[in-house]
Amino acid sequence: MDQIILEDVKRGKVDLKRKDFEDKKVLVTGGAGFLGSWLCDILVTLDAEVDCLDNLSTGKLANIDHLLENSKFKFLNEDVCTFKHDKKYDLILHFASRASPEEYQQHPIETLKVNSLGSHNMLELARKHDSTILFASTSEVYGDAEVFPTPESYLGRVNPIGPRSCYYEGKRFSEALFTAYHRKHELNMKIARIFNSYGPRLRAEGGYGRAVSRFITQALTNQPVTVYGDGLQTRSFCYVTDTCIGLLVLLINEETNGEVVNVGNKEEITILELAQKIKQLTESISHITFHPLPEDDPRRRWPDVGKAEKILGWKPKINLEEGLTKTIKWFKRKKAQIE
Ligand SMILES: NC(=O)c1ccc[n+]([C@@H]2O[C@H](COP(=O)([O-])OP(=O)(O)OC[C@H]3O[C@@H](n4cnc5c(N)ncnc54)[C@H](O)[C@@H]3O)[C@@H](O)[C@H]2O)c1
Repeated sequence: MDQIILEDVKRGKVDLKRKDFEDKKVLVTGGAGFLGSWLCDILVTLDAEVDCLDNLSTGKLANIDHLLENSKFKFLNEDVCTFKHDKKYDLILHFASRASPEEYQQHPIETLKVNSLGSHNMLELARKHDSTILFASTSEVYGDAEVFPTPESYLGRVNPIGPRSCYYEGKRFSEALFTAYHRKHELNMKIARIFNSYGPRLRAEGGYGRAVSRFITQALTNQPVTVYGDGLQTRSFCYVTDTCIGLLVLLINEETNGEVVNVGNKEEITILELAQKIKQLTESISHITFHPLPEDDPRRRWPDVGKAEKILGWKPKINLEEGLTKTIKWFKRKKAQIE
């Protein structure tokens, strides 16, 4: 495993109890993606038996190839919508879905299918075997929110026919389906509304979305750093190990059965400030350029994480400067390996 990631995984697992995961059979859908592969790494280190299901639509084998020889890890190259294995899992983390605006807008039907048929398939599997299942929902279900910091009780302000609807309406449907299974079948389930997460392995491809990895790549190659709109829209970025620990603590926490919990970092920053910070940390001579803001781009993202702090006893430990420094170091190393 990459050294930077290994150090983070070791540091991260300190906050988790081995007995909660040891020898547990865990299914991670979307396990070859950004968050999924970090979850697989942490779970394997905690001695769980991990099946990673991924159709590699956006995920990469390179994210998990170091795990392929491990007897506690299995890769299933399948689509979550049609996956038919009838295995009893103790825990299921349902993360399969296109996640970046550019990617899901290019594949709107696929995105709606994975967040409806795929979610239904995983819920049936969980129901049959009485598994505990966690759904990777998103801050995007809040749409262009008007309450800040945004609590779980905020119902959202979304456009059902806008260009982002395939993603957030898919996620909202999944949340409703998970809730229906909990009410009707008493299924143990949790919904995590994840706010922007970043760190090593975050893909940098594409012209819009995934601002952290895109800005770092642009800055390291002295290409223009591309900001959309005036850059005054805000986001709150959470380092990947903080996100994954929050998700795993939520998964095994008994008080949150059937509940929805925001997982994110309270540190809010404008996109322009983020671009300037990355330019400064990379000592880049790139110019910042401004481009038209895509339709329905949310103006603010700032989570209320009081519920996670109170019930899970979890809060992020890595501030933006520290997280960006680690991420930049990883991107620099990756760039050097390619050159
Ligand atoms: N990264 C974030 O900041 C963030 C924020 C909010 C929510 N989320 C959610 O977390 C999950 C993971 O996001 P990510 O950032 O790791 O994205 P990612 O694109 O890196 O990972 C998604 C994975 O799902 C796989 N996948 C997609 N469709 C599939 C299908 N039909 N069958 C099997 N595998 C499929 C992809 O190949 C990929 O490996 C997504 O559900 C996303 O909506 C992520």
